[in-house]
Amino acid sequence: MTTIEQARKTAEGLDHLSGFGNEHSSEAVPGALPIGRNSPQRAPLGLYAEQLSGTAFTEPRAHNRRSWLYRIRPSAAHPRFVRTGNGALSGAPFTDSAPDPNRLRWGPLPDPPAGTDFLDGLWTLGGNGDAAQRTGMAVHLYAANSPMTDRVFSDADGELLIVPERGGLLLRTEFGLLRADPGHVALIPRGVRFRVELLDESVRGYVCENYGRPFVLPDLGPIGANGLANARDFLAPVAAYEDGGAGGDADRPVEVVNKFCGNLWRAEYDHSPLDVVAWHGNHLPYVYDLHRFNVLGSISYDHPDPSIFTVLTSPSDTPGLAGVDFVVFAPRWLVGEDTFRPPYFHRNVMSEYMGLIEGAYDAKAEGFVPGGGSLHNMMSAHGPDRETFDRASTAELKPQKVDNGLAFMFETRWPVTATAQAMAAGHLQSGYDDVWQGLERHFRS
Ligand SMILES: [Fe+2]
Repeated sequence: MTTIEQARKTAEGLDHLSGFGNEHSSEAVPGALPIGRNSPQRAPLGLYAEQLSGTAFTEPRAHNRRSWLYRIRPSAAHPRFVRTGNGALSGAPFTDSAPDPNRLRWGPLPDPPAGTDFLDGLWTLGGNGDAAQRTGMAVHLYAANSPMTDRVFSDADGELLIVPERGGLLLRTEFGLLRADPGHVALIPRGVRFRVELLDESVRGYVCENYGRPFVLPDLGPIGANGLANARDFLAPVAAYEDGGAGGDADRPVEVVNKFCGNLWRAEYDHSPLDVVAWHGNHLPYVYDLHRFNVLGSISYDHPDPSIFTVLTSPSDTPGLAGVDFVVFAPRWLVGEDTFRPPYFHRNVMSEYMGLIEGAYDAKAEGFVPGGGSLHNMMSAHGPDRETFDRASTAELKPQKVDNGLAFMFETRWPVTATAQAMAAGHLQSGYDDVWQGLERHFRS
């Protein structure tokens, strides 16, 4: 069997725990999880007890994230980390180019050389804030054609929201296994070790690295108790562990790569750190199928603000102001009367990075393609292109199903500084401004 066939077989029929932010618990071996306490004098089955804190110990209970892990060897048993090459990956603050007020658009990443795994295939487009201050976010793209073998990755700087666009991923994490196909998103919390295997020959997608507070579901206000992304559709793994070196082979060391304040550090372990036999807590990886998103919108007139499409939000200290929102433009009906139905022209204090998972987007007739992305920074003027404006302004307003694409947005409170490599990239499109050329003067006084 090829490695892809093996990964596909493993990914079939994975068990899950359902819910968002829950206090879940799971044990791969019966009796591995202590009952009634977290740190007994001797943990069951000779395991080591270890707490992983995603928030300060003293944050309010509703925000608090931590998990207890019961593992074959404690995480502390590791050699010294040393710097390794960052490749095309970098972290905030982004200082190698000036923030650019222009509207920018990129095509997909070029296919990488053979043998590129998920970690090597990460390519930083830009971001804001400061990883060391735990504020802001980064936009990364990835393209890979090889599984991560004999190594795992963890990100001390923030949580990773992975948005596959091409090809499926099998994520082996400290908490167990998850599968993420295009149309799904996967979240790896800050500090959690994981390895990415491939379910297809070639994979590609987007990553939002969130340095700020962990993503939560948005409040629903007058929408009520249900709607948008429903908590029960978020799936956490069940416990699964590796015992020994890479691939269960005691003689094969495991490279552990840690992203810390923007740089990559590596250490060679004599065992896999994915050796958690049981766990409980709420600092957990999860996956979510964007097709489950309950899309709400106007049933009278006007196009609602896209905040109505928020899947996950990372709150700031200012109520209602997100460090970053993850927003999806999913299939939906448009029924507004006397309404310009595509997204309206706008200038926004928030900065918007948009990507396309499949199909097309209803405000752009061409140029915005799966795997590509656009950046509309703070106060940049944007909206439908001329072709879309002309069509939507004259369309017969009967009920219309928009079901030819799946787009998303990382919307963030601060301007996104594109990296020097993003500004110099061959896939940065020239002439993006032209899509708004030819919008004619229709004014009649
Ligand atoms: Fe926008």
